[in-house]
Amino acid sequence: MLPNSKATEIIDKYIRKFLEMLRTQEIKDIHSNGLLELSKNLIDELTSNEIDMLVKTDDGTYTLKSEDTDELMHSRVGALTEGIEKFAIPSMVEMRDSCNILDLCSGMGYNAMACLSKNKNCNIDMVEISKETLFLSLCLDIPLKEHELIKEAYFEFFNNFNDIDIDKDIDKDIDKDIDKDMVKKESNSKREFNGNIQVFNDDARVILQKMPNNYYDIVCHDAFSPARDPVLYTVEFLDLMYKKLKDGGMVISYSSSIPFRSALFEIGYNVYEGVSVGRKRGITIAFKGKPIYHTICNNDNAINENKLDKNENDNHNTNNNCELQRISEVDERLIALSPIGIPYHDEKLDKTSEEIIFNRDIMRDEFKNNLSIEGYNEHNSYIYSTKRIKSGKIDEKLLKIQKNSKNSVECINLLKKELFK
Ligand SMILES: C[S@@+](CC[C@H](N)C(=O)[O-])C[C@H]1O[C@@H](n2cnc3c(N)ncnc32)[C@H](O)[C@@H]1O
Repeated sequence: MLPNSKATEIIDKYIRKFLEMLRTQEIKDIHSNGLLELSKNLIDELTSNEIDMLVKTDDGTYTLKSEDTDELMHSRVGALTEGIEKFAIPSMVEMRDSCNILDLCSGMGYNAMACLSKNKNCNIDMVEISKETLFLSLCLDIPLKEHELIKEAYFEFFNNFNDIDIDKDIDKDIDKDIDKDMVKKESNSKREFNGNIQVFNDDARVILQKMPNNYYDIVCHDAFSPARDPVLYTVEFLDLMYKKLKDGGMVISYSSSIPFRSALFEIGYNVYEGVSVGRKRGITIAFKGKPIYHTICNNDNAINENKLDKNENDNHNTNNNCELQRISEVDERLIALSPIGIPYHDEKLDKTSEEIIFNRDIMRDEFKNNLSIEGYNEHNSYIYSTKRIKSGKIDEKLLKIQKNSKNSVECINLLKKELFK
């Protein structure tokens, strides 16, 4: 899914003007008067009553409407607040000496600037399919000084294709050499910023395949919701991401969707629930291997998994400042026992959202049919409605498995085994 086409058509008009002004040197850098005037006109047009595409969130920062106007690019709580509270703080980026961050679906760059505000020694790869959201960031006044670093990176990105006719469909030119799309912010290293920002304007499924393996410490996964746009929530895409993570590397997503968490478990991530910001459910935090900087709460006790390895009895640490929770019992049961737990698939990383959703619906029907084949499961005793799975009114044996399992991975595997035995 993309930002709303009514908004992107207007922004395209301004990109054309911007490129022309770069050519004529009326705009030379992010502080040029020409850009300030262009920005004011763009924001006025997008916020006008007639267009109404740019929305002010509760913290005063802006977000865009998406193609489905019911879904904004950020929650009402605040675009910048989300970047700080859902991504930068839970990533514990400030604890790290240096780190490689993948800002997936970088849009206006809120998550990247939030991470930079906590730690200047980051290398950030920003991947975004819509050049319009990148341009919009150049025109916004976001009250965080690290926004300037993002603006400079985005400015250079547009500077790089000022000789390309914007009317051509440059977004779909996926064969172009990746180096042409990336911008090294060497100038930044002269100042307090020690890292490197690179901008990639293409489908994340294409870009990620070209990235090195075992490279990222943190992935800020900020795609639109999986129910509407599952392309970046499929088993195959998340598996590719797993390969790109270092050991101990983490993926953070605001989404707590069951098929998304189910896919993460299937691949082998260690999946936890983080804080909740402006929603009932917590964010999803998934690790390749064990967490290095985070503490895990379990049954009211905080357990540091590294400690657990050394001494099984040392698991009654009463520190309540833990950042990760085991996912809820209901979620574990839904992932293991319900067709809701069937994840999305995109085998060749090229399907549309509609195809992915359609194929999952077929798999959900197959799951139900498998369980109801006579003789497959003698008394069909494990076929439960979602309501019963949620309320826990299911066979005692299954509940016991859940109660006795040490963690979600063990629990989900054992429940699945019991269901299909
Ligand atoms: C929820 S918004 C993310 C907001 C963003 N993090 C920010 O700070 O503004 C989702 C973004 O994902 C982008 N997107 C959608 N599909 C994509 C894909 N396949 N690859 C890369 N970006 C994609 C959209 O254009 C949109 O900007």
